[in-house]
Amino acid sequence: MRKIFIDLVKDDDVLALPVEDANGNILLAKGSKIKQSTKDKLSKHGITTVYIKEGNNGDNIEPLEGNRDEALKMLKRQPLEEILISRINNYSRNDNASPIVKKVVEDIIFTLKNKNTLLVHFAHLRLIDNYTYEHSLDVCALSLVIGERLRLTRTSLYQLGLGALLHDVGKTKVSISITSKQGKLTDKEFERVKEHPLLGFQLLKDFDNNIPLPSCQVVLQHHERYSGTGYPRGLKGEKISKLSYIVGICDMYTAITAKRSYREAFSPKEAIELFMGTCNYLFPTQVVEAFLEGVAAYPNGSVVKLSNGLIAKVIMQDTLALKPIVKPLKYNSETEIRLVGNESLDIECLYE
Ligand SMILES: [Fe+2]
Repeated sequence: MRKIFIDLVKDDDVLALPVEDANGNILLAKGSKIKQSTKDKLSKHGITTVYIKEGNNGDNIEPLEGNRDEALKMLKRQPLEEILISRINNYSRNDNASPIVKKVVEDIIFTLKNKNTLLVHFAHLRLIDNYTYEHSLDVCALSLVIGERLRLTRTSLYQLGLGALLHDVGKTKVSISITSKQGKLTDKEFERVKEHPLLGFQLLKDFDNNIPLPSCQVVLQHHERYSGTGYPRGLKGEKISKLSYIVGICDMYTAITAKRSYREAFSPKEAIELFMGTCNYLFPTQVVEAFLEGVAAYPNGSVVKLSNGLIAKVIMQDTLALKPIVKPLKYNSETEIRLVGNESLDIECLYE
């Protein structure tokens, strides 16, 4: 079988694996054919790739080389700067990315698109699965928000953002049968996945690309934890770079708040509360505090359910991540509710 972008599926192609939505519901059975109307339907579910049958090669997944050119073309067409800026606006307490951050994003995308080998590996990341690719963009955007909160210099922000964008690039060296596996990994498979920071570091160091060392370090250390409980080397405290800690916490936040087919997502509230207890355990206090001050747990425009049952829209950020200013949708008035200082009223959950 072969993994292929949905736009490239032909009328005669037959599905080698079923297609599932984010909740694990089967949308299309194994053996189905995909018509144009079905492609449109799948796109609405955010599905960009499928596995199709090819000849009689059993269930072995074909190496990805054959698809790389297509992935590369698709990536070159993507307005990556715009995508990153819009995600930065979404994650940030401020409505608009600052001029410095916009410049840094321009520099990062320029580097990516002008170093062909780097772009090839980033494109390869997209072929593994769309989640890993989208997740890399999210981690990059959120890391820049937190990095700015920590008043990093423009150079450090560039190194941070580039490392964040490439933090999981080592997964391209792990077998696709492991990285694409739905459900729990075996211990042996998990041990292989845990090698991805080192594989990614080696990949970047092998290039004659002048990738800055702090960015390579981010790739190597983004799963290391303050207490020494991380991997691959079990480093502790100051041995781990500040940029790696920023990417580590942003990686964890975006991963646990994303809905996956095999588990429920943490609500922003649960994720923030989890991080409140991680000071000087998973991440240093300074980074946790910057994260809690910098992230918009409920971005402007999100619709939420309040603890009194009212459905409201977030209209502005306030001093606490979990307590923005909201406006109830029920009343067609200009009533705004400030949750900071209001002990009896809270956001219960995102309303979808
Ligand atoms: Fe990772």
